[in-house]
Amino acid sequence: MKVEAVFVVSAATARDLPRDRVAEIALVGRSNVGKSSLINALVRQRVARTSGAPGKTRLANVYRIRRGTEPPFYLVDLPGYGYARISKEKKSEWRPMIAAYLKRTSQLRGIVLLLDTRREPTDDDRAMLDFLAEVEVPTIVALTKTDRLSKSAAHARTAEISQALALDADQVIPFSSVTGAGRVELLEAIAQLVEPQRSLEE
Ligand code: GTP
Ligand code: MG
Repeated sequence: MKVEAVFVVSAATARDLPRDRVAEIALVGRSNVGKSSLINALVRQRVARTSGAPGKTRLANVYRIRRGTEPPFYLVDLPGYGYARISKEKKSEWRPMIAAYLKRTSQLRGIVLLLDTRREPTDDDRAMLDFLAEVEVPTIVALTKTDRLSKSAAHARTAEISQALALDADQVIPFSSVTGAGRVELLEAIAQLVEPQRSLEE
């Protein structure tokens, strides 16, 4: 199915985000984990800026996505957290910004938390998962950069990470923006998050 994507806005604060009741799915994860690459891979276009230099996405970048004839939704690319080279000042800005975002939005249907398949989840990752569980935002975990591992190693890491974080198997999606692995599964999982509200409104 064809997926169309357009850049909507680079929001400086939560106030700049769209308020039009279109469902929102936000991406969170460490700097450099592959958030922008994941967006580009999902929509098969280069709409989001990626970089080898971590911490490039400073603001919430919002993309409007439409898949076939389904209703559109927003993908919100939030700034990455926990990169050592980002100044303390920037780090302390991160939490209030995300908290403000989560508080502001009534359009948010779910979060995609990205983890690098090859790395151990950090304290920041765990704190983020706990926080999302606390505020009861449905969360999908995308394990990125699986192309860097053999199939069997990626499979083993998926099981290890799921167990370490007490995640349900259907909550975890191995993904590669290089090969496109997991693309259809992630689009389906996002559609599930976007959809229930739609049927309620109908
Ligand atoms: P910030 O915006 O800084 O928070 O980073 P980000 O999470 O948006 O990461 P980005 O998508 O810019 O990717 C960071 C680096 O990882 C880039 O060099 C990408 O090319 C690389 N990368 C991202 N996804 C993949 C993947 O699936 N496989 C491989 N091999 N490299 C990837
Ligand atoms: Mg980015």
